[in-house]
Amino acid sequence: MMRTASTTRYFRPDPVPDDVIYRVLDNARFAPSGGNRQGWRVVVVKDAETRKKLAGMYMEVWEPYEEQIRAAATTQQRQRAIDRTSEFARSVDQIPVHLLVCADLSTLLVTDAELSRQSIVGGASVYTFVQNIILACRNEGLGIALTTLLCRIEDQVEELLGMPDGVGLAAFMPLGYPDPERLVTKTSRRPVEEFAFRESFGGQPLGVSS
Ligand SMILES: Cc1cc2nc3c(=O)[nH]c(=O)nc-3n(C[C@H](O)[C@H](O)[C@H](O)COP(=O)(O)O)c2cc1C
Repeated sequence: MMRTASTTRYFRPDPVPDDVIYRVLDNARFAPSGGNRQGWRVVVVKDAETRKKLAGMYMEVWEPYEEQIRAAATTQQRQRAIDRTSEFARSVDQIPVHLLVCADLSTLLVTDAELSRQSIVGGASVYTFVQNIILACRNEGLGIALTTLLCRIEDQVEELLGMPDGVGLAAFMPLGYPDPERLVTKTSRRPVEEFAFRESFGGQPLGVSS
């Protein structure tokens, strides 16, 4: 499942029953979190008006971002990937369920908060849960897209959904049954040898023979 759980960009309009969404979250909740604090919170949006508003907000961030990444795309393959992502962005309101994964900030154990670089650990206790949602969706025959662009305008989302102070947006995840004609299950990733080293960073690549 891990090898084939790519981002779904094309969905059927069919509704997703609550019991299926419940099962997804019921499996995903076994994710690890720092101190087992389980600070994730989820808003499940099915209402068409709310989805339209979220889709509009998403486009607000997507459009300038698209311009930027198109300018930097040098290959046809990359341009095609942007085309798919763009079609997805323009269809967000039609995707039957929007999951908004939030984090109760008071639960996060941010061990690198005092360093001068940006925090990496900050979101770690929530994205384990987010990844489990992706896998749990595949288990149910659902497709899903993990997106974070909306986090740039978190305040608008907070107002729309009534998120209280101290709760932040971690991911906006539209989900539904994938369009079987346009389902991509071939993920492309770098091989282990390119990112894992023996004994020191940048040292001998880890291969299968020792
Ligand atoms: C942290 C994170 C944030 C992402 N944010 C977005 C996003 O805002 N919009 C989007 O269309 N895709 C988003 N993606 C999806 C990635 O573009 C996608 O995973 C990547 O291109 C690999 O494609 P694949 O999942 O289909 O193999 C995000 C993925 C991750 C892990």
